[in-house]
Amino acid sequence: MKKIVAIVVAVLFALGMASMAFAGYEKCDKCHKGEKSIDAHIKAKDIKTGDDMVKAVRTSPKAALHKNLTDDDLKATVAK
Ligand code: HEC
Repeated sequence: MKKIVAIVVAVLFALGMASMAFAGYEKCDKCHKGEKSIDAHIKAKDIKTGDDMVKAVRTSPKAALHKNLTDDDLKATVAK
């Protein structure tokens, strides 16, 4: 029984680590670097939620550059 619990905990831990790695901005970083980083945009536009981010990007003059990104990709950058 203890063994099963240990395995379950280990699997959950591994999944947690994996999702943290994916929660990075890897989909944005190739274009958003330095002073144009996602963090800079989040601060400058006072983006607090995933919905704020979706709105900021979809209504931006640069929306076309983001059409390959799903709303979930955008939301993932603010989901904490
Ligand atoms: C193909 C390149 C590219 C990718 C990939 C990309 N962006 Fe952008 N994005 C740009 C460019 C270029 C701008 C305009 C310059 C700037 O302000 O950074 C921009 C602007 C923005 C803005 C500001 C909009 C405004 O009206 O000022 C936000 C917010 C943003 N991007 C979020 C994201 C997020 C979140 C991702 C990843 C999920 C992402 N972008 C991925 C190119 C890209």
